[in-house]
Amino acid sequence: MNEAFLRACKGERTKPVPVWLMRQAGRYLPAYQKIRSDTDFLTLCKTPELAAKVTLQPVDILGVDAAILFSDILIPLEGMGTGLEFHEGRGPVLNPPVRTEQDINRLRPIDPVAHVPFVLETIRILRKELSDKVPLIGFSGAPFTLATYMIEGGTSKSFVYTKRMLFETPSLFSRLMDLITESTLSYLKAQVEAGAQALQVFDTWAGSLCKEDYERHALPYATRIIDGLRDAGVPIIYFVFNGGHVLESIHSSGVDVIGLDWRTEIETVVSRLGPDIVVQGNLDPCALFLPEIELKQRIASVLSQGRKAKAHIFNLGHGILPEISPEKAKLFVKMVHELSA
Ligand code: CP3
Repeated sequence: MNEAFLRACKGERTKPVPVWLMRQAGRYLPAYQKIRSDTDFLTLCKTPELAAKVTLQPVDILGVDAAILFSDILIPLEGMGTGLEFHEGRGPVLNPPVRTEQDINRLRPIDPVAHVPFVLETIRILRKELSDKVPLIGFSGAPFTLATYMIEGGTSKSFVYTKRMLFETPSLFSRLMDLITESTLSYLKAQVEAGAQALQVFDTWAGSLCKEDYERHALPYATRIIDGLRDAGVPIIYFVFNGGHVLESIHSSGVDVIGLDWRTEIETVVSRLGPDIVVQGNLDPCALFLPEIELKQRIASVLSQGRKAKAHIFNLGHGILPEISPEKAKLFVKMVHELSA
Protein backbone atom coordinates (compact mmCIF):
# COMPACT_ATOMS: atom_id res chain seq x y z
CA MET A 1 0.00 0.00 0.00
CA ASN A 2 1.26 3.45 -1.00
CA GLU A 3 1.10 5.35 2.31
CA ALA A 4 2.60 8.66 1.13
CA PHE A 5 -0.73 10.49 1.30
CA LEU A 6 -1.52 9.38 4.87
CA ARG A 7 2.01 10.12 6.03
CA ALA A 8 1.86 13.63 4.60
CA CYS A 9 -1.55 14.16 6.30
CA LYS A 10 0.17 13.35 9.58
CA GLY A 11 2.83 16.00 8.95
CA GLU A 12 5.58 13.90 7.45
CA ARG A 13 7.52 15.30 4.53
CA THR A 14 7.49 12.70 1.75
CA LYS A 15 9.42 12.04 -1.43
CA PRO A 16 7.70 12.16 -3.82
CA VAL A 17 4.98 14.54 -2.69
CA PRO A 18 1.60 12.71 -2.86
CA VAL A 19 -0.94 14.02 -5.34
CA TRP A 20 -4.63 13.55 -6.04
CA LEU A 21 -7.19 15.72 -7.82
CA MET A 22 -10.48 17.04 -6.56
CA ARG A 23 -13.22 15.61 -8.84
CA GLN A 24 -10.69 13.11 -10.16
CA ALA A 25 -13.52 10.74 -11.07
CA GLY A 26 -15.67 12.56 -13.56
CA ARG A 27 -16.65 13.72 -16.98
CA TYR A 28 -13.14 14.42 -18.30
CA LEU A 29 -12.56 10.63 -18.28
CA PRO A 30 -14.06 8.69 -21.23
CA ALA A 31 -14.29 5.63 -18.95
CA TYR A 32 -16.59 7.67 -16.64
CA GLN A 33 -18.62 9.01 -19.55
CA LYS A 34 -19.14 5.49 -20.77
CA ILE A 35 -20.79 4.47 -17.49
CA ARG A 36 -22.73 7.75 -17.29
CA SER A 37 -24.09 7.27 -20.83
CA ASP A 38 -26.65 4.78 -19.53
CA THR A 39 -26.76 5.60 -15.80
CA ASP A 40 -27.91 8.91 -14.33
CA PHE A 41 -25.69 10.55 -11.72
CA LEU A 42 -27.81 9.75 -8.65
CA THR A 43 -28.22 6.11 -9.66
CA LEU A 44 -24.45 5.94 -10.10
CA CYS A 45 -23.95 7.32 -6.58
CA LYS A 46 -26.45 4.83 -5.15
CA THR A 47 -25.12 1.69 -6.86
CA PRO A 48 -22.10 0.56 -4.82
CA GLU A 49 -20.51 -1.62 -7.55
CA LEU A 50 -20.66 1.24 -10.07
CA ALA A 51 -19.63 3.95 -7.60
CA ALA A 52 -16.65 1.82 -6.59
CA LYS A 53 -15.76 1.25 -10.23
CA VAL A 54 -15.63 4.96 -11.10
CA THR A 55 -13.73 5.70 -7.87
CA LEU A 56 -11.00 3.34 -9.07
CA GLN A 57 -10.77 4.74 -12.60
CA PRO A 58 -8.46 7.71 -11.81
CA VAL A 59 -6.34 5.51 -9.51
CA ASP A 60 -5.62 3.16 -12.40
CA ILE A 61 -5.54 5.73 -15.22
CA LEU A 62 -3.66 8.62 -13.55
CA GLY A 63 -1.60 6.95 -10.84
CA VAL A 64 -2.79 9.29 -8.06
CA ASP A 65 -1.76 8.63 -4.45
CA ALA A 66 -5.27 8.55 -2.98
CA ALA A 67 -8.77 7.51 -4.01
CA ILE A 68 -11.78 9.62 -3.08
CA LEU A 69 -15.15 7.96 -2.59
CA PHE A 70 -17.44 8.62 -5.55
CA SER A 71 -20.54 10.31 -4.20
CA ASP A 72 -21.70 13.89 -3.74
CA ILE A 73 -21.85 16.27 -0.79
CA LEU A 74 -25.62 16.57 -1.32
CA ILE A 75 -26.39 12.84 -0.97
CA PRO A 76 -26.89 12.89 2.84
CA LEU A 77 -29.32 15.83 2.53
CA GLU A 78 -31.80 13.57 0.80
CA GLY A 79 -31.50 11.26 3.83
CA MET A 80 -32.36 14.24 6.01
CA GLY A 81 -35.59 14.69 4.10
CA THR A 82 -34.91 17.16 1.28
CA GLY A 83 -35.71 16.42 -2.35
CA LEU A 84 -32.63 15.97 -4.54
CA GLU A 85 -32.35 15.92 -8.31
CA PHE A 86 -29.53 16.60 -10.73
CA HIS A 87 -30.53 18.30 -13.94
CA GLU A 88 -28.21 18.08 -16.92
CA GLY A 89 -26.54 21.44 -17.38
CA ARG A 90 -28.35 23.07 -14.43
CA GLY A 91 -26.74 21.26 -11.55
CA PRO A 92 -28.46 20.10 -8.36
CA VAL A 93 -32.04 21.01 -7.43
CA LEU A 94 -33.33 20.64 -3.85
CA ASN A 95 -37.06 21.09 -3.91
CA PRO A 96 -38.77 22.50 -1.90
CA PRO A 97 -36.07 24.76 -0.41
CA VAL A 98 -35.72 25.03 3.37
CA ARG A 99 -36.62 28.61 4.37
CA THR A 100 -39.09 28.57 7.26
CA GLU A 101 -39.47 26.99 10.66
CA GLN A 102 -42.02 24.55 9.18
CA ASP A 103 -39.49 23.58 6.51
CA ILE A 104 -36.91 22.80 9.19
CA ASN A 105 -39.46 20.82 11.20
CA ARG A 106 -39.87 18.49 8.21
CA LEU A 107 -36.18 17.51 8.38
CA ARG A 108 -34.73 14.71 10.50
CA PRO A 109 -31.20 13.82 11.58
CA ILE A 110 -29.56 11.34 9.23
CA ASP A 111 -29.28 7.69 10.20
CA PRO A 112 -26.41 6.61 7.94
CA VAL A 113 -27.16 2.88 8.08
CA ALA A 114 -30.84 3.42 7.23
CA HIS A 115 -30.58 6.36 4.82
CA VAL A 116 -27.26 5.97 2.97
CA PRO A 117 -26.32 2.26 3.21
CA PHE A 118 -25.03 2.42 -0.39
CA VAL A 119 -22.30 4.91 0.63
CA LEU A 120 -21.08 2.59 3.39
CA GLU A 121 -21.21 -0.42 1.08
CA THR A 122 -19.21 1.47 -1.59
CA ILE A 123 -16.54 2.19 1.02
CA ARG A 124 -16.39 -1.48 2.08
CA ILE A 125 -16.01 -2.63 -1.54
CA LEU A 126 -13.33 -0.01 -2.15
CA ARG A 127 -11.23 -0.94 0.85
CA LYS A 128 -11.05 -4.51 -0.46
CA GLU A 129 -10.20 -3.38 -4.00
CA LEU A 130 -7.65 -0.81 -2.81
CA SER A 131 -5.91 -2.96 -0.21
CA ASP A 132 -2.57 -3.01 -2.03
CA LYS A 133 -2.97 0.34 -3.79
CA VAL A 134 -3.74 3.70 -2.17
CA PRO A 135 -5.72 5.03 0.82
CA LEU A 136 -9.40 5.93 0.55
CA ILE A 137 -10.67 9.44 1.35
CA GLY A 138 -14.25 9.85 2.55
CA PHE A 139 -15.90 13.28 2.52
CA SER A 140 -18.81 15.53 3.31
CA GLY A 141 -19.85 19.10 2.76
CA ALA A 142 -19.27 21.48 5.66
CA PRO A 143 -22.46 22.66 7.39
CA PHE A 144 -22.49 26.18 5.90
CA THR A 145 -22.09 24.91 2.34
CA LEU A 146 -24.77 22.24 2.84
CA ALA A 147 -27.10 24.85 4.35
CA THR A 148 -26.74 27.05 1.25
CA TYR A 149 -27.93 24.19 -0.98
CA MET A 150 -30.89 23.50 1.32
CA ILE A 151 -31.90 27.14 1.68
CA GLU A 152 -31.26 28.30 -1.90
CA GLY A 153 -32.67 25.07 -3.34
CA GLY A 154 -29.57 24.63 -5.50
CA THR A 155 -26.45 26.45 -6.61
CA SER A 156 -26.44 30.20 -6.09
CA LYS A 157 -24.30 33.23 -6.85
CA SER A 158 -25.39 35.66 -4.15
CA PHE A 159 -26.74 33.31 -1.43
CA VAL A 160 -29.48 35.82 -0.77
CA TYR A 161 -31.88 33.44 0.99
CA THR A 162 -29.10 31.98 3.14
CA LYS A 163 -27.78 35.36 4.20
CA ARG A 164 -31.28 36.67 4.70
CA MET A 165 -32.03 33.83 7.15
CA LEU A 166 -28.72 34.25 8.90
CA PHE A 167 -29.21 38.02 9.40
CA GLU A 168 -32.99 38.19 9.82
CA THR A 169 -33.62 35.04 11.89
CA PRO A 170 -30.25 33.89 13.25
CA SER A 171 -31.84 31.47 15.72
CA LEU A 172 -33.62 29.69 12.87
CA PHE A 173 -30.37 29.54 10.93
CA SER A 174 -28.47 28.13 13.89
CA ARG A 175 -31.17 25.51 14.43
CA LEU A 176 -30.73 24.35 10.86
CA MET A 177 -26.94 24.43 11.22
CA ASP A 178 -27.11 22.36 14.42
CA LEU A 179 -29.19 19.73 12.67
CA ILE A 180 -26.84 19.60 9.65
CA THR A 181 -23.78 19.49 11.92
CA GLU A 182 -25.05 16.55 13.97
CA SER A 183 -26.03 14.69 10.80
CA THR A 184 -22.69 15.36 9.12
CA LEU A 185 -20.83 14.17 12.18
CA SER A 186 -22.69 10.86 12.31
CA TYR A 187 -22.37 10.52 8.51
CA LEU A 188 -18.58 10.94 8.66
CA LYS A 189 -18.23 8.63 11.67
CA ALA A 190 -20.13 5.96 9.72
CA GLN A 191 -17.75 6.46 6.77
CA VAL A 192 -14.76 5.88 9.05
CA GLU A 193 -16.37 2.79 10.57
CA ALA A 194 -16.94 1.46 7.05
CA GLY A 195 -13.26 2.01 6.22
CA ALA A 196 -12.54 5.60 5.11
CA GLN A 197 -8.89 6.35 6.02
CA ALA A 198 -9.00 10.15 5.78
CA LEU A 199 -11.80 12.70 5.44
CA GLN A 200 -12.16 15.89 3.45
CA VAL A 201 -14.73 18.47 4.50
CA PHE A 202 -15.71 20.74 1.58
CA ASP A 203 -16.73 24.31 2.45
CA THR A 204 -17.21 25.49 -1.09
CA TRP A 205 -19.35 28.55 -0.32
CA ALA A 206 -18.17 29.71 3.12
CA GLY A 207 -15.76 32.09 1.36
CA SER A 208 -18.80 34.19 0.45
CA LEU A 209 -18.94 35.34 4.08
CA CYS A 210 -16.79 38.13 5.52
CA LYS A 211 -14.48 37.13 8.36
CA GLU A 212 -16.86 38.14 11.12
CA ASP A 213 -19.75 36.18 9.66
CA TYR A 214 -17.56 33.21 8.78
CA GLU A 215 -16.40 33.08 12.40
CA ARG A 216 -19.94 33.33 13.71
CA HIS A 217 -21.97 31.30 11.22
CA ALA A 218 -19.68 28.74 9.58
CA LEU A 219 -16.48 28.05 11.52
CA PRO A 220 -18.00 26.92 14.86
CA TYR A 221 -19.99 24.19 13.11
CA ALA A 222 -17.04 23.01 11.02
CA THR A 223 -14.94 22.98 14.20
CA ARG A 224 -17.57 20.87 15.97
CA ILE A 225 -17.20 18.29 13.23
CA ILE A 226 -13.41 18.36 13.40
CA ASP A 227 -13.48 18.04 17.22
CA GLY A 228 -16.13 15.34 17.11
CA LEU A 229 -13.94 13.20 14.84
CA ARG A 230 -10.82 13.53 16.97
CA ASP A 231 -11.33 10.02 18.41
CA ALA A 232 -12.04 8.47 15.02
CA GLY A 233 -8.30 8.47 14.41
CA VAL A 234 -8.24 9.58 10.77
CA PRO A 235 -6.73 12.81 9.41
CA ILE A 236 -9.11 15.55 8.31
CA ILE A 237 -8.66 18.01 5.46
CA TYR A 238 -10.77 21.18 5.61
CA PHE A 239 -11.11 22.90 2.25
CA VAL A 240 -12.61 26.38 2.17
CA PHE A 241 -12.87 27.54 -1.43
CA ASN A 242 -12.07 31.25 -1.75
CA GLY A 243 -11.04 31.35 1.91
CA GLY A 244 -7.88 33.47 1.71
CA HIS A 245 -9.42 36.13 3.98
CA VAL A 246 -10.19 33.62 6.74
CA LEU A 247 -7.02 31.50 6.86
CA GLU A 248 -6.30 32.34 10.51
CA SER A 249 -9.83 31.31 11.46
CA ILE A 250 -9.53 28.07 9.49
CA HIS A 251 -6.24 27.34 11.27
CA SER A 252 -7.91 27.93 14.64
CA SER A 253 -10.22 24.98 13.92
CA GLY A 254 -7.24 22.74 14.71
CA VAL A 255 -7.75 20.75 11.49
CA ASP A 256 -4.94 18.42 10.39
CA VAL A 257 -4.65 19.62 6.79
CA ILE A 258 -5.65 22.98 5.30
CA GLY A 259 -6.98 22.68 1.75
CA LEU A 260 -6.19 25.72 -0.40
CA ASP A 261 -7.59 27.12 -3.60
CA TRP A 262 -5.16 28.77 -6.05
CA ARG A 263 -5.74 32.39 -5.08
CA THR A 264 -3.50 32.43 -2.01
CA GLU A 265 0.06 31.27 -2.57
CA ILE A 266 1.33 28.61 -0.15
CA GLU A 267 4.21 30.96 0.68
CA THR A 268 1.76 33.57 1.89
CA VAL A 269 -0.18 30.97 3.86
CA VAL A 270 3.01 29.84 5.62
CA SER A 271 4.04 33.40 6.41
CA ARG A 272 0.61 34.07 7.91
CA LEU A 273 0.12 30.81 9.83
CA GLY A 274 3.69 29.70 10.50
CA PRO A 275 5.64 26.70 9.15
CA ASP A 276 3.96 24.12 11.40
CA ILE A 277 1.03 23.52 9.03
CA VAL A 278 0.15 20.77 6.59
CA VAL A 279 -1.27 22.14 3.35
CA GLN A 280 -3.05 20.65 0.37
CA GLY A 281 -3.20 22.33 -3.03
CA ASN A 282 -3.15 24.50 -4.99
CA LEU A 283 -2.63 24.77 -8.72
CA ASP A 284 -5.31 26.65 -10.67
CA PRO A 285 -7.33 23.89 -12.43
CA CYS A 286 -7.05 25.94 -15.64
CA ALA A 287 -3.23 25.69 -15.47
CA LEU A 288 -3.74 22.26 -17.02
CA PHE A 289 -4.45 24.14 -20.25
CA LEU A 290 -0.85 25.46 -20.24
CA PRO A 291 1.74 24.02 -22.60
CA GLU A 292 3.92 21.38 -20.98
CA ILE A 293 6.93 23.57 -20.17
CA GLU A 294 4.89 26.23 -18.41
CA LEU A 295 2.82 23.65 -16.57
CA LYS A 296 6.05 22.15 -15.28
CA GLN A 297 7.24 25.57 -14.06
CA ARG A 298 3.96 26.15 -12.22
CA ILE A 299 4.13 22.74 -10.56
CA ALA A 300 7.75 23.34 -9.55
CA SER A 301 6.77 26.67 -8.01
CA VAL A 302 3.94 25.13 -5.96
CA LEU A 303 6.26 22.32 -4.84
CA SER A 304 8.98 24.70 -3.72
CA GLN A 305 6.43 26.72 -1.73
CA GLY A 306 5.07 23.49 -0.26
CA ARG A 307 8.51 22.73 1.14
CA LYS A 308 8.11 25.75 3.45
CA ALA A 309 5.21 24.02 5.20
CA LYS A 310 5.55 21.07 7.54
CA ALA A 311 4.16 18.76 4.86
CA HIS A 312 2.43 19.14 1.51
CA ILE A 313 -0.15 17.17 -0.45
CA PHE A 314 -0.36 18.30 -4.06
CA ASN A 315 -3.79 18.98 -5.54
CA LEU A 316 -5.58 21.42 -7.78
CA GLY A 317 -7.12 24.46 -6.13
CA HIS A 318 -10.59 23.16 -7.10
CA GLY A 319 -12.09 20.32 -9.11
CA ILE A 320 -10.61 19.24 -12.43
CA LEU A 321 -12.65 20.57 -15.35
CA PRO A 322 -14.46 18.35 -17.87
CA GLU A 323 -12.53 20.14 -20.65
CA ILE A 324 -9.14 18.77 -19.53
CA SER A 325 -7.76 15.82 -21.47
CA PRO A 326 -6.99 12.64 -19.50
CA GLU A 327 -3.49 12.68 -21.04
CA LYS A 328 -2.82 16.12 -19.56
CA ALA A 329 -4.10 15.02 -16.16
CA LYS A 330 -1.86 12.00 -16.32
CA LEU A 331 1.11 14.17 -17.28
CA PHE A 332 0.32 16.47 -14.35
CA VAL A 333 0.50 13.59 -11.85
CA LYS A 334 3.74 12.32 -13.42
CA MET A 335 5.30 15.78 -13.27
CA VAL A 336 4.42 16.23 -9.59
CA HIS A 337 6.00 12.87 -8.80
CA GLU A 338 9.13 13.46 -10.86
CA LEU A 339 9.74 17.01 -9.71
CA SER A 340 9.43 16.02 -6.03
CA ALA A 341 11.22 12.66 -6.13
O1 CP3 B 1 -13.81 14.28 -6.21
C1 CP3 B 1 -14.31 13.21 -6.61
O2 CP3 B 1 -13.93 12.61 -7.63
C2 CP3 B 1 -15.36 12.55 -5.75
C3 CP3 B 1 -16.73 12.82 -6.07
C4 CP3 B 1 -17.34 14.19 -5.82
C5 CP3 B 1 -18.37 14.70 -6.64
N1 CP3 B 1 -18.83 15.86 -6.09
C6 CP3 B 1 -18.89 14.06 -7.84
C7 CP3 B 1 -19.72 14.83 -8.78
C8 CP3 B 1 -17.13 15.12 -4.81
C9 CP3 B 1 -16.10 15.09 -3.68
C10 CP3 B 1 -18.08 16.16 -4.98
C11 CP3 B 1 -18.22 17.31 -4.06
C12 CP3 B 1 -19.15 18.39 -4.38
N2 CP3 B 1 -20.38 18.32 -4.98
C13 CP3 B 1 -18.95 19.74 -3.99
C14 CP3 B 1 -17.77 20.25 -3.21
C15 CP3 B 1 -16.57 20.40 -4.06
C16 CP3 B 1 -16.62 21.56 -5.02
O3 CP3 B 1 -16.71 21.29 -6.22
O4 CP3 B 1 -16.54 22.68 -4.54
C17 CP3 B 1 -20.05 20.48 -4.42
C18 CP3 B 1 -20.28 21.97 -4.25
C19 CP3 B 1 -20.96 19.57 -5.04
C20 CP3 B 1 -22.30 19.88 -5.59
C21 CP3 B 1 -22.44 19.50 -7.02
N3 CP3 B 1 -22.38 18.22 -7.51
C22 CP3 B 1 -22.69 20.37 -8.11
C23 CP3 B 1 -22.81 21.87 -8.00
C24 CP3 B 1 -22.77 19.56 -9.25
C25 CP3 B 1 -23.13 20.01 -10.64
C26 CP3 B 1 -22.01 20.70 -11.34
C27 CP3 B 1 -21.23 19.75 -12.19
O5 CP3 B 1 -19.99 19.80 -12.14
O6 CP3 B 1 -21.86 18.99 -12.92
C28 CP3 B 1 -22.53 18.23 -8.86
C29 CP3 B 1 -22.50 17.04 -9.75
C30 CP3 B 1 -21.32 16.13 -9.65
N4 CP3 B 1 -20.75 15.71 -8.50
C31 CP3 B 1 -20.67 15.51 -10.75
C32 CP3 B 1 -19.67 14.68 -10.22
C33 CP3 B 1 -18.72 13.77 -10.95
C34 CP3 B 1 -21.02 15.65 -12.20
C35 CP3 B 1 -22.17 14.73 -12.47
C36 CP3 B 1 -22.21 14.24 -13.89
O7 CP3 B 1 -22.80 14.92 -14.73
O8 CP3 B 1 -21.69 13.13 -14.14
